[in-house]
Amino acid sequence: MEKIIVKGVKELKGEVNISSAKNAILPIIAATILCDEKVIIKNTPMLEDVSVLIELLRELGAEIKYSNITDELIIDNSNLKLVDTIDSLVKKMRASFLIMGPILSRFGYCKLSLPGGCNIGSRPIDLHLKGFKLLGADINKQYGYVETKATKLKGNRIYLDFPSVGATENIIMASVLAKGETIIENAAEEPEIYDLANFLNKMGAKIYGAGRGKITIIGVDKLKGTTHTPIYDRIEAGTFMVAAAISKSVIDIKGIDDDNLRPIIEKLKECGVKFINYEDGIIVDGRGNKYPIDIKTLPHPGFPTDMQPQMMALLSTIEGGSVITETVFENRFMHVAELTRMGADIKIDGKTALVNGVSKLTGCEVKSTDLRAGAAMILAGLVAEGETVVGDVYHIDRGYLNIEEKFKKLGANIYREDR
Ligand code: EPZ
Repeated sequence: MEKIIVKGVKELKGEVNISSAKNAILPIIAATILCDEKVIIKNTPMLEDVSVLIELLRELGAEIKYSNITDELIIDNSNLKLVDTIDSLVKKMRASFLIMGPILSRFGYCKLSLPGGCNIGSRPIDLHLKGFKLLGADINKQYGYVETKATKLKGNRIYLDFPSVGATENIIMASVLAKGETIIENAAEEPEIYDLANFLNKMGAKIYGAGRGKITIIGVDKLKGTTHTPIYDRIEAGTFMVAAAISKSVIDIKGIDDDNLRPIIEKLKECGVKFINYEDGIIVDGRGNKYPIDIKTLPHPGFPTDMQPQMMALLSTIEGGSVITETVFENRFMHVAELTRMGADIKIDGKTALVNGVSKLTGCEVKSTDLRAGAAMILAGLVAEGETVVGDVYHIDRGYLNIEEKFKKLGANIYREDR
């Protein structure tokens, strides 16, 4: 089994380039199903989740080329065909459920196995299905599958009980070729939603208000091919910001700006981290004194849940009491047990974790309970005494490209091996 081994305690220095956002690329790849002309997506990191979605589209007849010289993904869906069920790949990655909206729109029918839950929560899809139903689809859920059928989707007004990222994306994709106007209220405002809408509008869609709580989509007849460069990964950038903070180092993070990072930067500033913005990056200075803080995860523009485990690793090393409240997922504290094994002092009380910072963490074997928790274990390992052996690294590879190489370039004592 592959493990990532980190030997603390090392100061980091130098620069790191941030990849394009996994959570922008996945819906964008799904959205190419809506178009039968060639689409080029630039700067695409070949992450595990990206290759699973590419495999899935190939099962449907997509012609997909990838150059790992230019990181360009070229997708031609002109010969896409309807396949009854695509079980193995959908089950492998829940984000593949994002193909339901585009397939339903293009073929008038889609049958997928229900995506399972995962370590962080049950991950329901009721809001996705509510949207499809309001757009005129018949929904049939049984035997572990969900089947949607619609001769022609018609625009409608859809209120989301929760600003679900995936549901917002799936409904946008189902609406762009529907007849008439669709309004999504209480829509997710994550930057990845804005990027998806940007991409679709370049293909001829008419989407207004993406990135805010109310999105209007005017149906069009056809989309044309385009070229798109997805936004940078704000969670990867945030992960390296925490790396600077926890290791009391200065790191130059390139290819980012502070627009999409505001919630993360503000909380790290409260912790005592300093930031110097420049033209195409941000220098993060984590050398100063650190202070305990309180964090509550919320839909964007609140503090992102995908940064919660990383911040918990940092706050575990800051003297004093910090409080972390997880409001987005019902079970995203699996990493607490792993951090506790390293000497952290954390008590869970329902949706809240009370973190009492300790002066020292010590290295040991730990698990990655989800992809962000895995990154948090590496961060803790950077400053733990001794060796930290991080297992289940396949979780980490789903969302971080060559994470250990990027940390090695910053001077960390880190490597991957089969153990
Ligand atoms: C996206 O997941 C991201 N994944 C997640 O990133 C991220 O944590 C999450 O948004 C929140 O920001 C991708 O974009 C591929 P949601 P998604 O639908 O769309 C409830 C990572 O680490 N809900 O916004 O599945 C649900 O139970 C991953 O990169 C419903 O109740 O998230 C959850 O509590 C992890 N009904 C909350 O909404 C629904 O139909 C947030 O889920 C859908 C969701």
